[in-house]
Amino acid sequence: MDRTAAPGQSHTTPSTALAYLNPRYWDERFSEEEQYEWFKDYSHFRHLIHSHLTPNCSVLELGCGNSQMCEELHKDGATDLTCIDLSHVAVDNMQRRLLSRGLKDIKVLQADMLELPFGDECFDLVIEKGTMDVLFVDSGDPWNPKPETISKVMATLKGVHRVLKANGIFISITFGQPHFRRPIFNAPDFSWSVEWTTFGETFHYFVYVLKKGQRSSYEDIPVKRFEVPHVNLLHEELESEDFAFLINVDELNC
Ligand SMILES: C[S@@+](CC[C@H](N)C(=O)[O-])C[C@H]1O[C@@H](n2cnc3c(N)ncnc32)[C@H](O)[C@@H]1O
Repeated sequence: MDRTAAPGQSHTTPSTALAYLNPRYWDERFSEEEQYEWFKDYSHFRHLIHSHLTPNCSVLELGCGNSQMCEELHKDGATDLTCIDLSHVAVDNMQRRLLSRGLKDIKVLQADMLELPFGDECFDLVIEKGTMDVLFVDSGDPWNPKPETISKVMATLKGVHRVLKANGIFISITFGQPHFRRPIFNAPDFSWSVEWTTFGETFHYFVYVLKKGQRSSYEDIPVKRFEVPHVNLLHEELESEDFAFLINVDELNC
């Protein structure tokens, strides 16, 4: 994770990752923390996504927090950009920050990704980094997640699928490995194809690219394969908060 909190603005890692499920936790955190980049900043995965930013494409970012990703997407041509976050503090701070940087055309709204307040087929691209991972912190057995987890994840994915235009793309940047994410992304409710790749040095993060309307059948079709690296939990690239998040997401029991 790239820690970019301003001096004196860092937060305390919660004692349990279950805190990430609590909206109050995020409000309190964002009232103290100016900036923090989950996983890695845009420069580490730009090469994997910038080709999907076509001119004039409309982009929705889920759970922007206080990340810089929306500014980087904007620099890369995503001028019709909407960010949402459940935390009103994150939204207020982000609106202020973008305004102070002359980026008033980026829209920032308080909204729940489980109930997206947008019409059908209005975005070319939906992107999230570490936001859906929050839904997995209390998922139980990663091979057989709790029904409550599945139901929240499916509500999010159905919303994303609904708001995407016919050939729209969903990009999910996550800790979640393909053996856990693929069965969910490939649910029969969705018409998207599922591909993934990785970035990172020793520790790898996953970038899933789901293209609506590109699935060739509703079977659990083979997806484009990349070598899936082992997770090295002791590697120094993982800071303490990544670690706390990761062990509650899904990988330790694999
Ligand atoms: C792990 S942080 C990731 C933040 C940012 N995407 C990044 O890469 O730094 C998760 C973010 O998701 C937001 N969040 C959690 N649950 C959400 C929900 N149901 N709908 C929208 N945002 C949510 C939190 O407020 C927080 O900003």
